[in-house]
Amino acid sequence: MKASKAQSIISLITCFFLILAVTICKENKFRNILPDNENETEKQSGNTGILRQADDGIQIVSTRQITKDVNGYGGNVPLEIYMKDNRIIKVVALENSETPSYFAKVRNSGLLRQWDNLSPEEALNKEVDGISGATESSAAIIQSVQKAMEYAKEHSLEETNSSFSFDWLLFLGLLAGIAVCTLIITYFSKQPKPQTMRYVLNFFNLALVIVVTALSIQPKNNQVINKEEPIMTQDNKPSVLESIHARTSIRSYLPKEVEEEKVEQLLRAAMAAPTATNKQPWAFIVIKEKEILSELGTTLPYAKMAKEAPLAIVVCGDLSKAISGAGSDYWVQDASAATENLLLAAQGLELGAVWTGVYPIKERVKEVQKILHLPEHIIPLNVVPIGYPAENPLPKDKWKPENVHYERWTEGK
Ligand SMILES: Cc1cc2nc3c(=O)[nH]c(=O)nc-3n(C[C@H](O)[C@H](O)[C@H](O)COP(=O)(O)O)c2cc1C
Repeated sequence: MKASKAQSIISLITCFFLILAVTICKENKFRNILPDNENETEKQSGNTGILRQADDGIQIVSTRQITKDVNGYGGNVPLEIYMKDNRIIKVVALENSETPSYFAKVRNSGLLRQWDNLSPEEALNKEVDGISGATESSAAIIQSVQKAMEYAKEHSLEETNSSFSFDWLLFLGLLAGIAVCTLIITYFSKQPKPQTMRYVLNFFNLALVIVVTALSIQPKNNQVINKEEPIMTQDNKPSVLESIHARTSIRSYLPKEVEEEKVEQLLRAAMAAPTATNKQPWAFIVIKEKEILSELGTTLPYAKMAKEAPLAIVVCGDLSKAISGAGSDYWVQDASAATENLLLAAQGLELGAVWTGVYPIKERVKEVQKILHLPEHIIPLNVVPIGYPAENPLPKDKWKPENVHYERWTEGK
């Protein structure tokens, strides 16, 4: 076989293995984080150990192994803590021996979202209260998160302070491969004068060095959480019950605009509400202008948060579409149902919102009509300031069995 032919074949084989190596490394097949202790392995979603890495760079801390001594009401409370860029994306409570309907109370309480966005250090410093009525299990969750974060801190999940990460191992390994390839090419290139094939191979080698360098430098997502994608529960869908129980009034917002698509989703959810005889007697005023938000916040005594909100939706009754006669006031229930849908949709879209009352307080109705240039037959029921939450309050536990009567009214309950 001629030297130039052998040279081409060896170069091709080397390149093939280089590309294979890059692909394997990029797919994280070799970079999976293995458990510290081989004996501690366990099967879970096809992965093993305390720490594992998903394909999209999300790291998952599983607490089963490190919280064996932490028990809730029904025993151990295993968690999975999803992290990216050294910050918590979500805490998921896995099935345990507690009765699911009771444990749902903890899951739906908003407790699991208390650590969203925090680094291990911040999570360890954060004081989180237990849930009344589920004290033991919520305390176990809090303790488990702390143990997991201590583990994450010790095993420092990822560097966060630069906008680029450089995979030295990958880079040096591949560079060594290219050096070997170059040596082989040189060895087979016996001819005294450089030939076209040598030029091509050298150019190809240089291109490989550039590609490998570029692949080794990975842009890092400085945004802690990709907020475009709402955080979902374990089965990837926030259930209706979860959204209902996690909702709470949010009165403080980040200075971040609410995307148009989300505004439309909010409005679609609002208009999906039931209405008496399906009249849909409503109108929605979407406000993003700072001046108007500010005017509403100043005028309405309990809507000061509107001044800081990036968005407000004013839910109105449209009397021209309302039922005539005895049911004319049903527009209030209709617009209220739309408002609750809107609040729940905001919760599901990772937004925060609060209902601030306007109707039936006459002066407030008049003021809002004036600010928004509403015609007489459009009655503002409320102003709902909306934005990305800058606070994370726990939902209130409003469950009071004494408010429920079975079959007939029972006095003195
Ligand atoms: C008809 C109505 C009017 C309300 N008005 C105001 C208001 O003007 N300002 C405010 O901050 N919250 C207002 N709220 C929100 C309540 O204060 C809040 O829903 C209640 O405290 C329960 O808290 P939660 O929403 O977190 O469960 C109103 C709620 C309703 C249903």
